[in-house]
Amino acid sequence: MKYLDLRSDTVTMPTPDMRRAMMECDVGDDVYGDDPTVKRLEAMAAEAMGKEAALFVISGTMGNQVSIMTHTQYGNEIIAGAQSHIVRHECGAAARLSGVSYALADNSDTFIYAEDVRRLYREQNIHFPNTGLLCLENALCNGDVVPLDILYAACDAAHELNIPVHLDGARVFNAAIALGCEAKDITARCDSVSFCISKGLCAPVGALICGSGAFIEKARGMRKIVGGGARQAGVLAACGILAIDVMAKRLKADHDNARLLAEKLCALPDISVDMDKQKINMVFWKAANPKFSSGDFCKFMLVRGIKVSGSRGEAYRFAVHNDIKRVEIDTIIGHMSDYIQSIA
Ligand SMILES: Cc1ncc(COP(=O)(O)O)c(C=O)c1O
Repeated sequence: MKYLDLRSDTVTMPTPDMRRAMMECDVGDDVYGDDPTVKRLEAMAAEAMGKEAALFVISGTMGNQVSIMTHTQYGNEIIAGAQSHIVRHECGAAARLSGVSYALADNSDTFIYAEDVRRLYREQNIHFPNTGLLCLENALCNGDVVPLDILYAACDAAHELNIPVHLDGARVFNAAIALGCEAKDITARCDSVSFCISKGLCAPVGALICGSGAFIEKARGMRKIVGGGARQAGVLAACGILAIDVMAKRLKADHDNARLLAEKLCALPDISVDMDKQKINMVFWKAANPKFSSGDFCKFMLVRGIKVSGSRGEAYRFAVHNDIKRVEIDTIIGHMSDYIQSIA
């Protein structure tokens, strides 16, 4: 059975062109620096992010954690968003791998402002850890997008305090479309960025860390420490090249489809979407009917050939991507409507 899978954009399948590229690419041992396809992907990534150099890693989590390891000293404190992926969804890895603690910005809109950076920064004091890094995120994992002026002001505040800035840009190309700018405009004032090729960009595996030449050289050593030195990684990098070259340019279709899905969800009884926050390929929605059961809903949809995730708190998330076509939105809405009628 072919499912429509709305659980995440990580479920996207590599495209036929990617599968062909995997077969045909030149490879070598990348730990020796011999893989021409990895080198090409890294050069493309650096160019796209406006940085000197890039490093291919296995996942977005590895991209963030290797970056934190590279920027910080053991015992530092890092400033990060309380709802950010680094804090909430990476197993506390920064504490475990880098030996850092967190100073959390916890604004209701989940943005980090310049005032937060100044407030959370630790003065030199025998009782305090040193602030070692500011971690930003764009797009945010709640689907929102941070405007450039807010992002730039936070970076400037960090730099005035001599703190480097890392951007978790897992979906930086989605953020760029939402902001009407280039990805390199978002990363311009960040010292490092990590972005994923295995989400909406459809590559099967991978992320890239971008930064200065010296930063990437050090990060390469950190990647080895976490077991991330891959050998003939060109078979994966070949998909990354198409991810950046081809798939990043089609993401607007996902945003448009997500908006259409959001509008149609709003038209269903007792379902609401905050349309002001509808910016990328993620649709977050709520069901007001107390009989709407997360578990029953997931089972109902699965039987109809649609994979959905249960609610987190009150909110459900649908992710729209290359394997969800515009014509399939009515199918999704039709089955949801049936579920709603079944509990009426
Ligand atoms: C904002 C953000 N950062 C990082 C990651 C981690 O990526 P990975 O699952 O490749 O480790 C994700 C994954 O969904 C994410 O949403």
